[in-house]
Amino acid sequence: MCMPMLLGLHSQGRQGYGLFFDNTFRGQFDLGATDPNVASFGAEGGELRYYFIYGPALTTVIERYTELTGRMILPPLWVLGYHQSRWSYYPEARVRKLAADFREVHHVPCDCIHLDIHYMDGYRCFTWDSERFPDPAGMIADLHAQGFKVIVIIDAGIKADHRYWVCQSGLEQDVFCKYPDGKTLPSTGSGHRFKGPVWPGNCYFPDFTSPRARTWWGDLYKALTDTGVDGVWNDMNEPAVFGPPGTTIPDFVRHDLEGRGGYHVEAHNVYGMQLARATVEGLMKLRPDERPVCITRSGWAGVQRYAMSWTGDNESNWSSLWLTMPMVMSLGLCGMANTGPDIGGFSGSTTGELFTRWLQMGVFLPFLRAHTAIRSPDQEPWSWGEPYLSINRRYIALRYRLLPYLYTAFWQCARNGLPIVRPLLLACQDDATTHTLDDQFLCGDAFLVAPVIEEGATRRSVYLPAGTWYDFWTDETLRGPARVEVQAPLEQLPLFVRAGSVVPMAPPMHYVGQRPVDRLTLHVYPGEGISWLYEDDGESLAYRRGQYRLTRFALSSARTRSRSKEETPLSRLDLHRRIEGPYAPTYRGLEVIIHGENRLPRAATTDGQPIERCELDDSGHAIRLHVGLFERLVVEWA
Ligand code: GLC
Repeated sequence: MCMPMLLGLHSQGRQGYGLFFDNTFRGQFDLGATDPNVASFGAEGGELRYYFIYGPALTTVIERYTELTGRMILPPLWVLGYHQSRWSYYPEARVRKLAADFREVHHVPCDCIHLDIHYMDGYRCFTWDSERFPDPAGMIADLHAQGFKVIVIIDAGIKADHRYWVCQSGLEQDVFCKYPDGKTLPSTGSGHRFKGPVWPGNCYFPDFTSPRARTWWGDLYKALTDTGVDGVWNDMNEPAVFGPPGTTIPDFVRHDLEGRGGYHVEAHNVYGMQLARATVEGLMKLRPDERPVCITRSGWAGVQRYAMSWTGDNESNWSSLWLTMPMVMSLGLCGMANTGPDIGGFSGSTTGELFTRWLQMGVFLPFLRAHTAIRSPDQEPWSWGEPYLSINRRYIALRYRLLPYLYTAFWQCARNGLPIVRPLLLACQDDATTHTLDDQFLCGDAFLVAPVIEEGATRRSVYLPAGTWYDFWTDETLRGPARVEVQAPLEQLPLFVRAGSVVPMAPPMHYVGQRPVDRLTLHVYPGEGISWLYEDDGESLAYRRGQYRLTRFALSSARTRSRSKEETPLSRLDLHRRIEGPYAPTYRGLEVIIHGENRLPRAATTDGQPIERCELDDSGHAIRLHVGLFERLVVEWA
């Protein structure tokens, strides 16, 4: 990923700004490294074209930066489910066993299985190995029947094999990158085609900076959509070429660059994004009313318009677990919000504890996928037995319950670029303590997540910014700003909810759409605040034509007066629910859980009518109400 975007804070955080250097040549930012008094940026070619965006709020900077570079299309809801991957699951029997392990043996929710490079015939893109996968369409249909989706990997390089149909077609259509040979017109290039080794051996590289090559590439996906493949994982699209680290297409290879003509030194940084763009444009042509699903390893400013991403090849160790947070947060600040790590780590072998801790964090990251390298031991939620399996299952189940909340955070991002996972400084820019926090984050408007990042740790220190925070597990309230030490046994992710929030949750499911949502639960954390819930069909593009429903919750609560600083008992809670948009969800009833309260109310009404079912929650520190689709809920205590 390459996003030449600098975000800065001045005057103790009061003034935030952004600087986007819109130049795709090899460039550099030198922030006081050469001379501590000088910050500079530049590139090896092109124009000095940059945008300076003044906030003063960083949220405004991001909103305007994404107005310029674009925002995501909402992914289908299943993309927010749990994904299982490895390099590689094969043959077909192994994939079927994996599916059965999820559904029948271990009962762990999962939405998607990824097929890495071994599904192909000799790593030839858009083909299947007919021995390992004799009937891909049949296998995928069976997986669909069990509620799984299938994503397959497609790399950038096309095997230079003149008997292979994609290679033949690419040669015929003249879409591969070429050397200049000193005699070519700038925009076409008629020299020798560049070849470089990747998984299948020597490969040609389509010139994705050419609209014609993009159309050609997009049409190739028919071979995959015809077999029922649900999404595409574009890899090695920097493009990576085997050789010493950083090997790629040489600087002087020609590119079309949208008809202008130029060299790889200019095209390199946009190559991966244009590949993802070609994929998505192809998928949208093949399935016009479905949301395209594309994961890309490489991208440039604005790649969020086309694809989601992951943080690349990490390692199975605790420092990679920690590094996930600054990476996902930084990508989000630069507009690329739908990302996540290889849970458990890619290279090396992970332990049960490391996997579980990573998964606990991952539940609150946009893209939740376990993935690991070839030859590493099994890395599925059950691979280390108990107690890990039960804990992993519980956290993945929590992810599924949180889908309405998380999907709403995706909608916020699609609407104004606000990242899903946010550094604390986005919410409290003038609190200098938050400026350097890289081991905890906010997920959406309500959650503060403080993952355990040390082996063997059973507690950790957490910074809570100003306001009241509920401990998600105990409903105990804590006041910020404060640094607190919290318990974090293996089964517990330190997790806090901002007072004044309404967190919508769905019933647990083993995959998205397993059955219609019959009841939505609103978790209410007393305080003052506005919360949102965004809903649509979760799969088509109808939402872009207005088929959605947006709910605004306005919560206020009053407490009995007291001189002590301790939280005093609630005396009244008022919740207004206002809806907009024609989409009609399947549920008819709501369950409202009021957290941090163990006294049954004196009176509780919805739209003036008394609520009949009102009980103490099993936890002992929350009240549960069963209600219809109200506009106004009022609860009073004696
Ligand atoms: C690259 C990818 C990795 C994948 C591997 C094999 O290293 O980053 O995720 O498993 O290639 O395709």
